[in-house]
Amino acid sequence: MTKRAVFEASHPGVFFLDERDPDGLAAFLRERGWLASDEAVRRLSKPGEGNMNLTLRVETSQRTLIAKQARPWVEKYDHIPAPPERAVVEGRFYELMAQYPALRDRMPRLLGFAPEARLLLLEDLGSGTDYTGLYIGEPLSEADLDALVEMLASLHRAFAGFQDDGLFTNRAMRELNHLHIFEVPLDASNGLNLDAITPGLSEVAAELRQDAALVAAVEGLGRVYLRDGGSLLHGDFFPGSWLRTADGPRIIDPEFCFLGAPEFDVGVLVAHLRLADQPSAIIDRALTGYAERIGTRHDDASRTLVMQFAGVEMMRRLIGVAQLPLTADLARKQTWLQQAREMLSSAASHPRSSVGGI
Ligand SMILES: Nc1ncnc2c1ncn2[C@@H]1O[C@H](COP(=O)(O)OP(=O)(O)OP(=O)(O)O)[C@@H](O)[C@H]1O
Ligand SMILES: [Mg+2]
Repeated sequence: MTKRAVFEASHPGVFFLDERDPDGLAAFLRERGWLASDEAVRRLSKPGEGNMNLTLRVETSQRTLIAKQARPWVEKYDHIPAPPERAVVEGRFYELMAQYPALRDRMPRLLGFAPEARLLLLEDLGSGTDYTGLYIGEPLSEADLDALVEMLASLHRAFAGFQDDGLFTNRAMRELNHLHIFEVPLDASNGLNLDAITPGLSEVAAELRQDAALVAAVEGLGRVYLRDGGSLLHGDFFPGSWLRTADGPRIIDPEFCFLGAPEFDVGVLVAHLRLADQPSAIIDRALTGYAERIGTRHDDASRTLVMQFAGVEMMRRLIGVAQLPLTADLARKQTWLQQAREMLSSAASHPRSSVGGI
């Protein structure tokens, strides 16, 4: 059965986004008033790499748009189910941002949101690349770093103590992420062939899994990640979620957002700065800049938690499923994993979040 047939059997009457069917999309957009009466859909194409959803660039006779649909599976591996409500969470996140200029201006505008079809229509930020070139030596300017840090701090600050109707617990996506960050990498029977990625990596991972203190620290952090907390997080704040534009970085893809410990977002940022071989002065700049912007006093527990989350994120990107486009050899990866281990072993017995007090 085709993806369309599977979808239509389980979702009768719900629109199915299809790269080969611009006319179908035109009819769907027109019905919702999202297309001008004299506007035609000319072409659909993939704007970039994506795994979870179907994201298409829509060229109309007047402009370009981005359409993103979440199906009940992982788009790239459609035998793997995925929580379809992720699009609703993502749409609501964009709607919320619209009220905050400092955040709204750093993200694409939400031009249309069809929760029943799990479809978002977004402003097209252009065909510039994301920031994953950082892993192969592309530079990161201080201005771009500052903009990213500013965005993160604004988000955490704006929604500290935010009360919602439960949507932003984003429980199913958080559980999925929990599995891939805190469980799969240290699971000896995860079936991953790490030697196929970098010869010798399996043995390094096997050795890590022997470290009972490390395993316990990761489990503890996993519990902190799953705990509901006081700030709204982006949830996947890494170079693949940052797009380069002429006006600086823009943030996309908040489908993993949730109300939790802000240290998780900051830790993920730090992890990827490290995996992109950024000098420690840049990492310090990010941490100091964040602390200044969040406006709370220096707090050792919070800083420790950031570094622990950073360690877990480095580890899971090296020995877990969600690999990065790294060119590093085994020795480099071993060094990073050793750093990750040290960051994790600063594991005080009870990691805790003290909202934003980096
Ligand atoms: N608003 C936008 N403007 C321009 N390009 C975009 C926009 N949104 C997404 N893209 C492009 O489409 C790609 C996939 O988008 P996105 O990351 O939102 O999809 P995804 O399915 O959630 O991906 P992943 O599985 O990596 O999380 C992006 O990497 C980017 O290249
Ligand atoms: Mg995504």
